[in-house]
Amino acid sequence: SERKNLLLMPGDGIGPEVMAQAKRVLDWLQKTGRADFAITEELVGGASIDAHGVPLTEAALAHALAADAVLFGSVGGPKWDTVPFDIRPEAALLKLRKEMGVFANLRPAKVFDALVDASSLKPELVRGLDIMIVRELIGGIYFGEPRGIETLPDGSKRGVNTEVYTTGEIERVGRVAFELARKRQNRVCSVEKANVMESGLLWRQVMTALHAAEYPDVQLSHMYADNCAMQLAKNPRQFDVIVTGNLFGDILSDLAAMLTGSLGLLPSATLGAVEPSGRRAGFYEPIHGSAPDIAGKGLANPLAQILSLALMLRYSFGQGANAALIEQAVENVLAKAGRTPDIAMPGRAKISTSEMGDALLAELEAL
Ligand code: NAD
Ligand code: IPM
Ligand code: MN
Repeated sequence: SERKNLLLMPGDGIGPEVMAQAKRVLDWLQKTGRADFAITEELVGGASIDAHGVPLTEAALAHALAADAVLFGSVGGPKWDTVPFDIRPEAALLKLRKEMGVFANLRPAKVFDALVDASSLKPELVRGLDIMIVRELIGGIYFGEPRGIETLPDGSKRGVNTEVYTTGEIERVGRVAFELARKRQNRVCSVEKANVMESGLLWRQVMTALHAAEYPDVQLSHMYADNCAMQLAKNPRQFDVIVTGNLFGDILSDLAAMLTGSLGLLPSATLGAVEPSGRRAGFYEPIHGSAPDIAGKGLANPLAQILSLALMLRYSFGQGANAALIEQAVENVLAKAGRTPDIAMPGRAKISTSEMGDALLAELEAL
């Protein structure tokens, strides 16, 4: 089979710092004959604004569309907070997701045994926690029309965004959630606000019909998003798969991340539709951002980026064994070695981003 193309887009802030550690893992896989990718890199976000005046060049976009998978870091930062809205660093990320057609964002929140005490919830509430949030990623209020800021006759302004979901958009992400549930605990909780939003009411109706028609063997429940936030903090283990729209998924996944101990631990995989050729677009990124408050200091936890690489190997390249190897190494490192400050605990050495990379590579060598 021919060599697969992998595009790395480190981005801004801690993006390049954590990507550097993921690259070491990738290099190790290549060097030991476990993987053989053609790997290239592109600027994105603020780094691309600085170099080219736009957060995503046509060439970088074309490159992403042609790649077999994209591993993305993070974008944004105070330096670019005042650029025009449509060329903000974050616009590049939204455009990449949209153009690549990656609609199903899988955000697993798993508590490693070694980190039970790093969670802000009591150990007995989070031990063994394993939730999969499926976030719709290229629809909803992030993309709906009309949108914009308009000036009213009296000179004041009106900011507008619109939540829109179609039957097709709900069904395709719903199918991903039901399929995942079948390989897990067979339970899906669909989250919206059907009590106040028509788009949420349609979401509930479509999920109910899809369940009856194609997935009657899976247990389906419905929950309002506000209650879901409360239930995640109260008793997170009640959930198996959560499926929800773009904005609620964004918020609930940051909350779920914290249950595991740190935002710096959570990877994500975003998949497109299976094309007639069998090809399926794959976009992989940690759920955290560019963390300007700690950027450039060697404080960032690289594990979310490295675990995103593992998800890429599993979902885009069928390399489940390589993915499992990385995940096992992460588990071992958390049990033995020092930790980055976000998950540090008394009695454990505080280590830097690159030292975490060192520890992980040593663990990989030993496995
Ligand atoms: P953030 O996720 O960057 O940071 C939130 C908090 O978590 C900060 O205190 C940060 O230090 C900490 N944190 C995040 N990742 C960490 C890691 N790997 N290790 C240790 N600590 C970590 O969110 P924010 O501060 O709201 O946003 C900062 C910038 O990032 C903004 O410009 C935002 O738009 C952007 N952003 C980008 C992405 C992305 O590129 N996917 C995601 C979220 C936010
Ligand atoms: C995320 C981020 C992005 C989002 C931003 C930076 C566009 O918060 O990936 O969770 O809201 O989707
Ligand atoms: Mn987010």
